[in-house]
Amino acid sequence: MKNKEFFYLQYNKVNWQNQEKTKINSFVDNFIIQNIISKKEGDEIKIFDIGFGIGFFLRMLQKNLSKSFKTIILEGCEPSRKNYKYFKSKPLNLKNTRLRVFNKTFLQTNTDTKFDFLTAIYVFTHFASDELNDVAQKINSMLNNEGKLILVVANEKYLEEKLKSKKDLFIERNIFEFDNQKYKEVLHYSEIPQIGTIIDYNREEKFYPDLFKRHGFNLDSKKDLDDNGFICTIFVFSKR
Ligand SMILES: C[S@@+](CC[C@H](N)C(=O)[O-])C[C@H]1O[C@@H](n2cnc3c(N)ncnc32)[C@H](O)[C@@H]1O
Repeated sequence: MKNKEFFYLQYNKVNWQNQEKTKINSFVDNFIIQNIISKKEGDEIKIFDIGFGIGFFLRMLQKNLSKSFKTIILEGCEPSRKNYKYFKSKPLNLKNTRLRVFNKTFLQTNTDTKFDFLTAIYVFTHFASDELNDVAQKINSMLNNEGKLILVVANEKYLEEKLKSKKDLFIERNIFEFDNQKYKEVLHYSEIPQIGTIIDYNREEKFYPDLFKRHGFNLDSKKDLDDNGFICTIFVFSKR
């Protein structure tokens, strides 16, 4: 698909704000906070959330980390005007917290902060394969030396089974090349209860360790998590 703007403009037509009612992703968000992010030592923590939607995860971070850290620096980007405006319309508790948000795509966002964590929760499905080198390079440049990337995508096997059983969700399969290797990707619809239907690109799982290895990262861990019947894969990469 050539129209890169499509991937955030489609959020004008769905009701992502209903995440506040359905709490979709809160299980995986909570797992990430309790098992990865809150393990960081020291008084200060700096996190950048890529494609923060309506800021559901940013709010959870603020709430859960404000007791453990004296200073919380939260930044993030969200290109959909609808999602961004919704986030801005609801006040966030700024106790111990410095917040900076951008109504831009990740590649358009500029910040000088060096982060402990970058998080990308169901966002890589909206990057086109020809953007991924620049995205990975930018992630590396935004992390401090001990920094980590937390990447969440739909689990490959779970998705394949779903696309077999619900054929109307399938759009097309492509092969793309990266570092002289070929990888599979599938373009498909995702139906999200009470929110709407969006279009996603999912890539075969082994692509991500290869991409980030090329950009100076080691894979720390990879975990499949069953979030109320939806299975996702959580990768944690750290800088070499
Ligand atoms: C499936 S939603 C997930 C939102 C949020 N991370 C969450 O877990 O609730 C994907 C988000 O990525 C955003 N997005 C799409 N293209 C993007 C891009 N190029 N850069 C950053 N975010 C993007 C969309 O606007 C949308 O809000």
